Amino acid sequence: MLEGRSLIEPGDFSTGEMDYLFGLAERIEEEKSCLRESCRGRVLAAIFFEPSTRTRLSFEAAMLRLGGSCLGFAEPGSSSAAKGESLADTVRTVACYADLIVMRNPKEGAALLASRYADVPVINAGDGGHHHPTQTLTDLLTIKRFRGKRGGGLGDAVRGLTVGFCGDLKFGRTVHSLAKALTRYEKLNMVFISPGELRVPLYITALLEKQGIPYRETGSLEEAMPGLDVLYMTRVQRERFFNEEDYIRLKDTYVLTRDRMETAKKELIILHPLPRVNEIAVEVDADPRAAYFKQAKYGMYIRMALISSILGVDHA
Ligand code: NCD
Repeated sequence: MLEGRSLIEPGDFSTGEMDYLFGLAERIEEEKSCLRESCRGRVLAAIFFEPSTRTRLSFEAAMLRLGGSCLGFAEPGSSSAAKGESLADTVRTVACYADLIVMRNPKEGAALLASRYADVPVINAGDGGHHHPTQTLTDLLTIKRFRGKRGGGLGDAVRGLTVGFCGDLKFGRTVHSLAKALTRYEKLNMVFISPGELRVPLYITALLEKQGIPYRETGSLEEAMPGLDVLYMTRVQRERFFNEEDYIRLKDTYVLTRDRMETAKKELIILHPLPRVNEIAVEVDADPRAAYFKQAKYGMYIRMALISSILGVDHA
């Protein structure tokens, strides 16, 4: 279904294609032998020009579990980018060695550019403060696993939900991708909780208005908490700030504590793309509503589904 396709931003796959991936990921989770050797002889290149733990390792773990191999670099200093090579030349070269490229880069639009130069599919693993579509697949699969029915579509799992996004909504690419992906579903609400300086970009709110999705913005997590069904916490994106003082002033604006959880719904789902810095107190981890470490695990299953589909071996 998705053979040969690149994934640059959340709108690249239809909702039906995403449901297909969720179904496949659920099957992979259930039947450990599912697609196990399907990528034997295939190579994934993970080229990361920015730090990463989960995204890079979950892609590599996914490929290894499918029987394939991985190569790449985890920091640009060890690649020819350090010698001044252009991104276009780097990806053209990497495409000679791999069947699929997974790339993270600090520049917005870098993944789109890479997909124009590479003659193998490119997966965007984060382009600056812009998008991070595979984190979105991870987030949506987690919501579906907590709220949906096995075999059912995501549309049913998200219907009626109030989804709160909290923290750095300006620079947080995972927020942009998840909010954008959710605009394709009906009957949900969004609440954007951030300090004034870190408000969600206008292109996202404009999209919500165009799609008729109700949303509101607030500075208070306390006020928003009781109405939320999903709370998507994010860290303040230090690396995208122009000066350290602003970062220090804003970094601890929101800290989710056990006390704050007392006002939340019993069936709330707390998501976080991770890494967490200070925004969720460790004491919250034991709360059954804390879904963020399970989310990291679902990230591997959805990436297994994605890789096998793009390589066209999802029926092996
Ligand atoms: C996120 C990212 O890189 O955008 N991390 C991730 O991929 N799980 C979130 C973040 O770094 O804050």
